[in-house]
Amino acid sequence: MTRSETGKMPDLANDFYAPLKARAAEIESRYRVLTPNSAALFDEAKKLYPGGYTRDAIIRNPYAPFIRRGHGTKLIDCDDRSITDFWFNATSLPVGHAHPRVVEAVTRQAQAGSAFYAFSENELQLAQRICERLPSAERVRFTNSGSEAVMVAIRLARAATGRDLLIKFEGSYHGTYDDVYWSVAPPVDHAGDADRPTPVADTGGLPSGEGRVLVLPFNNPEILRQVMAERGKDVAAIIVEPMANRIGLVLPETKFLQAARAVCNDRGAVLIFDEVIAFRLGYNGAQGTLGVTPDLTTLGKVIGGGLPVGGVAGLASVLDISDPSRPNRMAHAGTFNANPITVAAGSATLDELTPEVFSRINAFGADVRQRLRDACEGLPLQVTGAGSLFKVNATSRQIHDYRDAVTVDREWEQLASLALLNDGFMVTTSLQGCVSTETTPTEVDALIDAFSGILKV
Ligand SMILES: Cc1ncc(COP(=O)(O)O)c(C=O)c1O
Repeated sequence: MTRSETGKMPDLANDFYAPLKARAAEIESRYRVLTPNSAALFDEAKKLYPGGYTRDAIIRNPYAPFIRRGHGTKLIDCDDRSITDFWFNATSLPVGHAHPRVVEAVTRQAQAGSAFYAFSENELQLAQRICERLPSAERVRFTNSGSEAVMVAIRLARAATGRDLLIKFEGSYHGTYDDVYWSVAPPVDHAGDADRPTPVADTGGLPSGEGRVLVLPFNNPEILRQVMAERGKDVAAIIVEPMANRIGLVLPETKFLQAARAVCNDRGAVLIFDEVIAFRLGYNGAQGTLGVTPDLTTLGKVIGGGLPVGGVAGLASVLDISDPSRPNRMAHAGTFNANPITVAAGSATLDELTPEVFSRINAFGADVRQRLRDACEGLPLQVTGAGSLFKVNATSRQIHDYRDAVTVDREWEQLASLALLNDGFMVTTSLQGCVSTETTPTEVDALIDAFSGILKV
């Protein structure tokens, strides 16, 4: 079965969400008045892209804005509106747009040539920075996106173990590779039992996941242990997000990560942490903060300093299966792997992100979450997140796994997001946001004021 719409169990207990929804037409028409040039460009895009989009993540109703420039925390759209960015291309720009140090590194490398059929010295610098920071990283391979990193990590695990089966968790998004495009946002009425979910394809065109993918509930160590006791000998890898972005931006419980680590050790499976977003939780990544280390870590976003990137880092004992001298090695080519401009931007960005800078932006993130919590006090809204990231969830149910996360009132979240965009603030359509090193307290004050205004509707 394929996903047609997200199954949800709206909170019927209260009518808090109704007044904003009653203003849907007004909020949308204000957006249209503010963004006529984006509307016209979207009409052009519809002639070129199916339904107007070439990137699903930016889809929003009635259309996404077209951005002309980004500088620091500000975006200028093609209607000359200034928008304060609180999502920074899906968390990939922790030092803001066009940071001088990144621009200088990119410019220098662009002038020296953009791509070679050979190594460049820059790439070793980025690999060294990653190995210094990530506790479990002894080797690295670069890719061009987080999705490709996930694909390579799974292939490494299959090559290292000689097994096929991948365990992923319901509600987790790991990019667009076939074997992880299962049960990211399944309608609950098709998703089976909460303890043993039925894998649901999130896209048309997937080959069968039978024998390849098993979907389990997030944050449930008992079920994970049971399933590994039954199927462990077939399992190549368990892939888990150490901060579950699409499951309400929640951190997994430590005992769940510890159970994942223990069952992989016992059954000879590879533990993969997907830190494509979570790497920015701290100087040593999420694994440094949470104290559990995987065998492989998938990376993306911040390590490319705003350019397309991905990477797999981890134990030599697993990654060395791709060593060219190994028989039956895992092969992995790529015209733009470790692209010289990308790795220059990535190193410049990581150099900005010192332990002191992490302390500062994480404290700032905690402050934003607390202020949002104060604004949401007594309302059926929950604020989650960690490090420099935050999310408002339109549900009164405490979020622990996908079945909790799916109770959110999506329509309310989307409208609140559009109302914020009308007021000049960019967060996702499910109200995720983050602060960057460039974000100012005044910008946060303005965001909290605008959000509080929406709550008073
Ligand atoms: C946890 C996680 N894994 C993988 C990906 C895929 O990365 P990319 O969009 O670079 O392919 C994403 C993207 O948002 C992600 O959040």
